[in-house]
Amino acid sequence: MAPSRPRSGSTLVTNIGSLVTNDPGLGEGPLGLLRDAALVLDGDRVAWAGPAAAAPAADTRVDAAGRAALPGFVDSHAHLVFAGDRTEEFNARMSGRAYSAGGIRTTVAATRAAGDDELHATVARLVAEMLRQGTTTVEIKTGYGLTAADEARSARIAATHTDEVTFLGAHVVPPEYAGDPAGYVALVTGPMLDACAPHARWVDVFCERGAFDGDQARAVLTAGAARGLQPRVHANQLGHGPGVRLAVELGAASADHCTHLTDADVDALAQGDTVATLLPGAEFSTRAAWPDARRLLDAGAVVALSTDCNPGSSFTSSMPFCVALAVRDMGMTPDEAVWSATAGGARALRRDDVGRLAPGARADLVLLDAPSHVHLAYRPGVPLVSAVWRAGERHAG
Ligand code: NIG
Ligand code: FE
Repeated sequence: MAPSRPRSGSTLVTNIGSLVTNDPGLGEGPLGLLRDAALVLDGDRVAWAGPAAAAPAADTRVDAAGRAALPGFVDSHAHLVFAGDRTEEFNARMSGRAYSAGGIRTTVAATRAAGDDELHATVARLVAEMLRQGTTTVEIKTGYGLTAADEARSARIAATHTDEVTFLGAHVVPPEYAGDPAGYVALVTGPMLDACAPHARWVDVFCERGAFDGDQARAVLTAGAARGLQPRVHANQLGHGPGVRLAVELGAASADHCTHLTDADVDALAQGDTVATLLPGAEFSTRAAWPDARRLLDAGAVVALSTDCNPGSSFTSSMPFCVALAVRDMGMTPDEAVWSATAGGARALRRDDVGRLAPGARADLVLLDAPSHVHLAYRPGVPLVSAVWRAGERHAG
């Protein structure tokens, strides 16, 4: 995201009917829920949170008129640097054709052919679309360039829009390496990594049949780690496989998708400190079976929700939509889904300055045109976000 200019002076947001702080020390339950609450934003930080009646004075005052407020969504998994359109592939899927990893190559061809300005404009448009829907932190992956130069270009472009850039050179084997996957892994772990590492914080791999197997994924993640990139993994999306256990073994911040899990996978996630990031937009848009959030939560795993925004398997930028799907179809309560879309995303990015509204946290706030955060699931598809502050700067409403 483009850096935003902090507001000068402090702002009191008061008369908040129901405030999700995600700080159990500030309010009720894991959401740290406060009724009749207020917040003071100072510069780009939260200065104070508590009952409206006890709020300190500030330079300006915003009356929330009883509406609900929550931390800005943390979308920890998105593929925004791309060109082209895959409407036809979606149409075909909705007429019965199965999703396969190979569709990624269509976007690779279009992305390689695009100019920098077009890619920048697409990322900016999608980040703005996300912001209007309450997302104040977004991770952005490379993965549609798949040459050293094209991946480095994607990473550079992503880095102008977010601090959370992920190198995903190991998305699929591109056509020019079709007969030599080992050669492609050598490129990814060598010159491509060298070109991308300066622009990225994370390294990711699509560990799946049709993409990269467990040994290849391990090689990519360990090479990335040796260059200072922290691992995260596309794991167990289309079928069972080694991705989840590899992610936990390597101490990855997140194993993403987690749709097809054995008991051993669930146990590994519950024991380790790898977040299970669920991406219901992908199952929605590929008409696939839902990941079982309830099973993961009951086992004690930490669950995050994210959009997976990409032109192939999940072309939604809407965290509220993902919250609604997770509640309706994945066994999450509304409270759990809202936590996973905010604090859970922050955990998946190993951030403690976002995903919560407590003194010291970044002033990332969403006001809803609704009395409660539960309306995000209760009123699916309705544009409830009425105002957003990111780093103290008001962006909408
Ligand atoms: O997360 N799984 C791999 N990557 C994307 C799909 C990208 C595409 O189809 O273009 C995903 O679903
Ligand atoms: Fe993805």
